[in-house]
Amino acid sequence: MTANNQRQPAGPLSERSPSGMTGFSLIADPPMSLPRFIALIPAAGIGSRMGSPMPKQYAPLAGKPMIQHVMQTFSDSPLIDAIYLVVSAADGYIDALPAMPRTRILRCGGATRQASVTNGLLAMAHDVDSDDWILVHDAARPGISHELIEKLISFVKDDPVGGLLALPVVDTLKRSDAHAHADHTVPREHLWAAQTPQMFRHAPLLSALQSSEAITDEASAFERLGLKPRLVEGSPRNFKVTLPEDMLLAELHLKGNA
Ligand code: C5P
Repeated sequence: MTANNQRQPAGPLSERSPSGMTGFSLIADPPMSLPRFIALIPAAGIGSRMGSPMPKQYAPLAGKPMIQHVMQTFSDSPLIDAIYLVVSAADGYIDALPAMPRTRILRCGGATRQASVTNGLLAMAHDVDSDDWILVHDAARPGISHELIEKLISFVKDDPVGGLLALPVVDTLKRSDAHAHADHTVPREHLWAAQTPQMFRHAPLLSALQSSEAITDEASAFERLGLKPRLVEGSPRNFKVTLPEDMLLAELHLKGNA
């Protein structure tokens, strides 16, 4: 599988015709031409649970900032046509990173992940088609690999809704009362932990996000509309770095020692 560059010759994305943003439905019609695969990386969080002085996506990991690993993986992928990185307007770190092919920085981060993704989709709207696939990936998941990107694309590219990487839950799950006492056990059958990338077509994704409030991933915006995104088994390595101790594990994975 390779990127669908045949539909749009190599050149600046801004040379492409504006996307038709009207007349789409949340379940895509068969496209007139091959859609492209575009990465959108929200990276405007401050990572408060890490307790570090800098946003966690810039924390050093195996010799370079965490976000650089993520950008490099997408930039090196033969399947990905373009990469958009959403940072906050006040970001003081991004300019220190090396420029990467087909990668654009959008300084339009919002107060929530949902706002950052929505702003990124709006900012790229004139450079993409409404049926292009957008792979939204957390900057804080440095364990993403070419194999996982290819697996997600191959399972989801013909799906009428879209889909996401996720892991079947293996632990026994407890729902607690307000004081950390187990109230009951939640059956884990059919339970999955959502990961990223989450892959949806541009126009339906923008519309779904704009019609949902307080969601923590893209798939839930579609679920609220009664649609069923496809779950594709991801990898434990693709975990989200959240707490300080996660850095050590992520570093071991990146160095190939775990
Ligand atoms: O905070 P959390 O770990 O859930 O963030 C997931 C991803 O969303 C991270 O890559 C983070 O930088 C991004 N994010 C964002 N804008 C925000 C909050 C989080 O782009 N306001």
